[in-house]
Amino acid sequence: MTDPKPSTNDIFAKIRAKAATAAASESVAHQQTPAAPSAEVSPEEAAVPVAAPKSTADIMAAARAAAKPAAAKTEAAAKLGGTADVLAAAKKPAGASPSGGAAKSPADIMASIRAKAGAAPAASTPVVAAVAGTVIPPVKIDSLQAAGLSAADMIKAARTKTDGTTVAPIALPKVALPSKPLPGKATAGKVKQEVGRRSLLAVIVSTVCTWVVLAWSSMIAASVVSLLATARFMMPNVLVEPPTKFKIGPPNDYAPGTVSTKWQAQFNIWVVNAEVDGSQVVYALSTVCTHLGCTPNWLEGEQKFKCPCHGSGFYKSGVNFEGPAPRPLERVGLRLAEDGMLEVDKSVKFQRELGQWANSSSFVGVT
Ligand code: FES
Repeated sequence: MTDPKPSTNDIFAKIRAKAATAAASESVAHQQTPAAPSAEVSPEEAAVPVAAPKSTADIMAAARAAAKPAAAKTEAAAKLGGTADVLAAAKKPAGASPSGGAAKSPADIMASIRAKAGAAPAASTPVVAAVAGTVIPPVKIDSLQAAGLSAADMIKAARTKTDGTTVAPIALPKVALPSKPLPGKATAGKVKQEVGRRSLLAVIVSTVCTWVVLAWSSMIAASVVSLLATARFMMPNVLVEPPTKFKIGPPNDYAPGTVSTKWQAQFNIWVVNAEVDGSQVVYALSTVCTHLGCTPNWLEGEQKFKCPCHGSGFYKSGVNFEGPAPRPLERVGLRLAEDGMLEVDKSVKFQRELGQWANSSSFVGVT
């Protein structure tokens, strides 16, 4: 059974379909290139749906490949005027494909476009890495993925130059880490950790214990001080003074008419051998001035005691004669001990104004 001869309407329909297909390809090409629209496309051709390629990359590749032939075909289609031209165009091959096969239907044209898109090389994402100033040639990631390579293999392939050498990875600067943790931060961290571990009860107990220890220490120290003070109070105060009774040697050590200052520094007495009321006697005078208690000096040249404080003067006998001294010097007790030594008793005082110098205990008679 043979196909009936196509009518004129069928031929026109096929021509319009081919023209629409070509226009679709051209429109794809124009969307990718900023060039101005080249030919007038009829609304019917623009309305014809175009089968979508497999992917955007495929569409781009197919559009670039078919841009020039499609443009030429569009121009040819635009030049179609009469029925004869349309028929002639319908009998021409659908594209400028070197295969030269005539496109009989839109499906055939689309198949041809898909075939071209599939044959066109996929525009794989170029892998360009500037490593140490070296530009690595693009690597077809799609082909690597198709080969089932892992990410590490892909990176390795990306670092491989065209001459087979491998670009060394970027040497990252080494950070010198200390062998031991820093003391300050480590200590602070330890302290924080330690505080965190302590419970509130432990902190309270430690604080109370500290105050208790401090209180006990203070109480013990106060008790010890009190005990020492009590022991000192129980012991009598001992005044270290020279003895009140002491021997100053035999009477012959003191020549008549002389004043001995031998014991002035040690016992605060002068020993005088002088004639008193017609008798040669030895007596001991206190070195305390009767004015305000200063110590007068014996002036051998002037034969007197002279007080340096206010100028009181005393005779050899001890009687005051100048200065503010109100009364004569005092005698101390003196006796001839059993051993023939003169013994002084400072606990006993004899005052002339009281008539005590006449007391036999206030002098020792010598021959
Ligand atoms: Fe000796 Fe005043 S104390 S004169």
